[in-house]
Amino acid sequence: MVRLVSTLVVITSAAWLTACSNKPVTKQEPAAMAAPSDPKIVAAGKAIATGRSQGNCLACHMIEDGESPGNIGPPLIAMKARFPDKAKLRAQIWDATAANPESAMVPFGRFKVLTDDEIDKVVEYIWTL
Ligand code: HEC
Repeated sequence: MVRLVSTLVVITSAAWLTACSNKPVTKQEPAAMAAPSDPKIVAAGKAIATGRSQGNCLACHMIEDGESPGNIGPPLIAMKARFPDKAKLRAQIWDATAANPESAMVPFGRFKVLTDDEIDKVVEYIWTL
């Protein structure tokens, strides 16, 4: 009887250990990361962001091949790494003063400089940088 119990203990603990070590290590990615960006939207976003009359992000930011960039804001590089959450990137562009009331960055959404649709496109583009 004692033998049976100890055998059972051994079996159950082995099963338990196996279950533990077999537990898959899944790293959850935000849903947005899985969705590939539509090249047409990215191109439209680039036109808005680098255009001098609309976004004019180049006035303050260095952006890949953009000409004569300003350096008031940080260079827009490695954006996915710096903004794993696309919604946070959008929030920064919609109203930078929400996170930093002293921000020199134009609150593009709040001031209606860009429409929500234009901001969505800019976000898609900036996220590819
Ligand atoms: C008048 C200058 C100015 C303009 C124009 C401007 N920004 Fe900014 N931006 C800043 C400054 C300054 C910061 C630094 C953080 C802050 O103050 O909010 C910043 C920060 C950012 C950040 C966060 C970067 C980081 O690493 O934290 C993003 C993204 C960004 N800007 C995107 C844009 C986009 C896209 C446009 C164009 C639609 C734009 N900015 C136009 C000045 C500007």
